[in-house]
Amino acid sequence: MSENRLRVAVTRRIFPELIDFLRARYEVRDNQADAPLSPQALREHLRDADGVLATGGDRIDAALLEACPRLKVVSNIAVGYNNIDLDACTAYGVAATNTPDVLNEATADHAWALLLAAARRVGEAERFVRAGQWKRWEFEMLMGADLYGRTLGIVGMGRIGRAIARRAQGFAMRVLYHNRKPLPSELAGAAEYRSLEVLLAEADHVIVVVPYSPQTHHLIGARELARMKPSAVLVNIARGGVVDDAALVEALRARRLFAAGLDVFENEPALNPAFLALDNVVLTPHIASSTRATRQAMADLAIRNLEDVLAGRRPAALLNAEVWDRRRR
Ligand code: DGY
Repeated sequence: MSENRLRVAVTRRIFPELIDFLRARYEVRDNQADAPLSPQALREHLRDADGVLATGGDRIDAALLEACPRLKVVSNIAVGYNNIDLDACTAYGVAATNTPDVLNEATADHAWALLLAAARRVGEAERFVRAGQWKRWEFEMLMGADLYGRTLGIVGMGRIGRAIARRAQGFAMRVLYHNRKPLPSELAGAAEYRSLEVLLAEADHVIVVVPYSPQTHHLIGARELARMKPSAVLVNIARGGVVDDAALVEALRARRLFAAGLDVFENEPALNPAFLALDNVVLTPHIASSTRATRQAMADLAIRNLEDVLAGRRPAALLNAEVWDRRRR
């Protein structure tokens, strides 16, 4: 990288025109191979960078920051930021940013895609047809679970949770939600607050949308799954680790739960192999926000965040405000 231009590293492949945009302004080190970088390769990739466009798979911790003395900004192209040690960023004076809001609607759509697919056994039915097993119409063939007029439980009523709740109106569903605290009524709308235990027992179907943290690790485990109705569908679009996958496998296998729709997994992409043997689970590879327009909007916001920090402006989606306050002092 040349000496006098600011240096930006991009850890995964993004749209080529975005790389061109960055190259017109910065020295850019991209990753055309698009393979996830090992911790050592990531350190090497960021060693002399002033800023980085990172993704959820890049672990940004103190060891990495120590090895990257020029780094001023970690701009995550994701709303989730459990890959970033925010305290370490603050300690090293590095601004951390994310991409809230721009992915709410696409992610809510995907939560509904999983809920519908799991409830109406779409994956299983498609496999059945493709395997040439459909020989005749049968009255009780592949009967699914009802959504219309039922009760939906949303665990995590943030911006994406509320976008999911809005869609429930079209299905005439009553919506219950659980958060650390009840929301003001202008945000909750018609949705009713419940403790987690009560929500799990009362809801016909449950969608989990909370960020991952040590506090939400295995928030939904064997005990919580046992509270749910055996006719219920569980959808996880939050983060792997919020649901205890081994406990979920057991509940699905024993038909203590009707079905699940999962976009995120513990240790992804190496998901628990037992899921693959189950018909009552719909699996997608962490794509809830993956539409062309949404990916574009996420990248645009991440680039704006990065440019702002590098130009000395406070970025719109700053995660560690202390860093900025300290700069100003
Ligand atoms: C997010 O934005 O957090 C999505 O999960 C993509 O990583």
